[in-house]
Amino acid sequence: MKIIEEKYNRYGEEDYDTQYISWGFDDLETQIVMAKKLQKLFPSNANTIVDIACGISRYHQVWLKSGYEVTGIDISKTFIEYSRDYYIDFEKARYLVCDFNELNFENEFDIAIWTDPVELTGISVHRIFKALKQNGVFIYEMWNDNYYKYHTDTRHNDCRTWTYKDGIYHLIRHEYNKITCASEHEEIIFDIPNDTMIHKTGLDAKNVNNHCSVQVLEAAGFKNIRFLDYDGRPFSTENQQIKQFFMIGEK
Ligand SMILES: C[S@@+](CC[C@H](N)C(=O)[O-])C[C@H]1O[C@@H](n2cnc3c(N)ncnc32)[C@H](O)[C@@H]1O
Repeated sequence: MKIIEEKYNRYGEEDYDTQYISWGFDDLETQIVMAKKLQKLFPSNANTIVDIACGISRYHQVWLKSGYEVTGIDISKTFIEYSRDYYIDFEKARYLVCDFNELNFENEFDIAIWTDPVELTGISVHRIFKALKQNGVFIYEMWNDNYYKYHTDTRHNDCRTWTYKDGIYHLIRHEYNKITCASEHEEIIFDIPNDTMIHKTGLDAKNVNNHCSVQVLEAAGFKNIRFLDYDGRPFSTENQQIKQFFMIGEK
């Protein structure tokens, strides 16, 4: 039997990214609401935004129509091309294929945004700090560990389910691990007609990283680091009702 080990998230690979456009991003309406709420957190004198790992960027229209200059970076050529086409008529929109660990701007932006993030890394935060102007702000969306301990939703449904169709056995395991505070995703596919087993594993990293992310921002030089909810109110770490909140730091 042929055995294949695969990453569940294969961002940057064309076949994965092309498919991902049909299922991976929040729907447009949700993204627009989110972008409008985010805009209320922007400092009043800000003009330039860099959006880290922007995906297909549909929510940028809110900021572009308000007159901001928006630069989107993403590792996926597919998503960046989609974004360029989508904003072909907007002079102030710019899209670049770039790994967030290789971001290379200096004192260029008033705001750096990172929504629905895959992973905050020390290198990327340092690069974001460099890319911001003095007093620039970094707005980083975070997952509320408390929420996923007690709730599921259609995208984050806890399951360990086997299905069978046309000789293919498929296990999807998606579980919140209360010990590590990580959402784990794993799939096992027994493709009997092709005598193949595929084992897919996910990133697992989102929630674990939350525990040290304030220190990662501080180490990069950010100050006045705070947690705010989507309505701009202080986020309580006891909150179990909201899924996401923002960590904000200033240069
Ligand atoms: C869950 S999507 C979120 C996209 C977008 N921010 C949003 O809110 O819709 C995660 C994005 O991270 C991008 N990504 C993953 N690893 C990356 C890396 N090393 N550098 C830049 N972008 C990356 C993916 O290509 C994908 O577009």
